[in-house]
Amino acid sequence: MGSQSALNPSMNSGQAVELSLIAPTYNEKENIVPLVERVHKALSQYNYELIIVDDNSPDGTAQLANSLSSKYPLKVIVRTTERGLASAVVAGFSQAGGQVLGVIDADLQHPPEAIPALLDAIRGGADVAIGSRYVEGGGIEGWSTKREIISIGAKTIARLLLSSVKGIKDPLAGFFLFRREVIEGAVLAPTGYKILLEVLVKGNASQVVEVPYIFKERERGKSNLTFNEQLNFLKHLSHLAWFEGKIKRFIKFCIVGASGFCVNLGLLAIFVEVVGMHKVWAQIPSYQISILTNFMFNEFWTFSDRRTPGLKSFLIRAVKFNLVSQVGWGINISVYYVALNAAGIYYIVSQIIAIAVATMWNFFSNLIWTWRQKQGEALAEGG
Ligand code: GDD
Ligand code: MN
Repeated sequence: MGSQSALNPSMNSGQAVELSLIAPTYNEKENIVPLVERVHKALSQYNYELIIVDDNSPDGTAQLANSLSSKYPLKVIVRTTERGLASAVVAGFSQAGGQVLGVIDADLQHPPEAIPALLDAIRGGADVAIGSRYVEGGGIEGWSTKREIISIGAKTIARLLLSSVKGIKDPLAGFFLFRREVIEGAVLAPTGYKILLEVLVKGNASQVVEVPYIFKERERGKSNLTFNEQLNFLKHLSHLAWFEGKIKRFIKFCIVGASGFCVNLGLLAIFVEVVGMHKVWAQIPSYQISILTNFMFNEFWTFSDRRTPGLKSFLIRAVKFNLVSQVGWGINISVYYVALNAAGIYYIVSQIIAIAVATMWNFFSNLIWTWRQKQGEALAEGG
């Protein structure tokens, strides 16, 4: 690798580095010695390097780490102009010489003893091996119910929003390994702190394996993640959704919906004025036909990339779209009714809320049901 010469020569000279493990740190002085020792013990069988990326911590984390670098295969990067977990990890990647790259918290909440199992998964063919709290055998030690609920909520949103993450039990993990090819050519944006999402969405992994571990309680020092980071998380998610093309798809879907509104209104006028139908009955065909035109636009525009060939599957999608739309119509009326009568909201505002809720329902139901993606394609699509 090109950065080989920059590696600490004491341990990896001559041989290729199998694993570069990145540990971002901010005020982790008390954890550095046990971290370095435990990593070294756990990886005694492997040719590895540990890269500590410190943002000039006032407690002197970097100085302490530097003092260990003659004894261990340890590289210390100190950044003075930037702050942030994700950007620190990305900086670490750029200096890593290993065939496999990994990320671990420095506070020992991620037990270094679990790394060999992750490495085994990679050796067994996985592109990404995630230390997972949410597969059998994994877990979390000492979290409050509140933190657990927030975590599950965040995880659910991410899985719903991002196709690359759909089947993954612990997409927000901060403990994972991957083959370096996964991010070759990818431009990782250092926003947010969920660097795994970045790797899964922008990288080109096709096989992702989750290996259980127990997320430990922090024994020393304190967490750095603030409320601001939670907001950043939402920003990061929308950035990734945009990257995956999901937001473009949603905009197309809304444009089609607006076209359906025009079709509905135009036909209503024609059926009443030209055909001479009763005003109540005329509503039915004009609404049903607008669903049909919506379906056609979505089939050949919004979701054109997800069409499977054959008349039968086309008809199945048409029926599904129709069902989704009928339920959406029911949702529209119900939300309008509740907003208007139970919440006493102004009728125009009530209708806007109702349309918004029904549109979300329609979009996501059609996304995950009508034009469902086959398993496996989801991960390939991210690249
Ligand atoms: N360089 C650098 N710069 N490192 C940072 C910064 C920063 O601004 N902020 C935090 N870190 C380092 C910490 O020193 C620690 O090693 C690691 O990043 C995790 O930070 P914590 O402050 O301990 O975060 P946490 O325990 O709340 O969150 C962890 O758990 C999440 C799972 O719920 C993180 O590992 C997340 O990545 C993980 O998703
Ligand atoms: Mn922590």
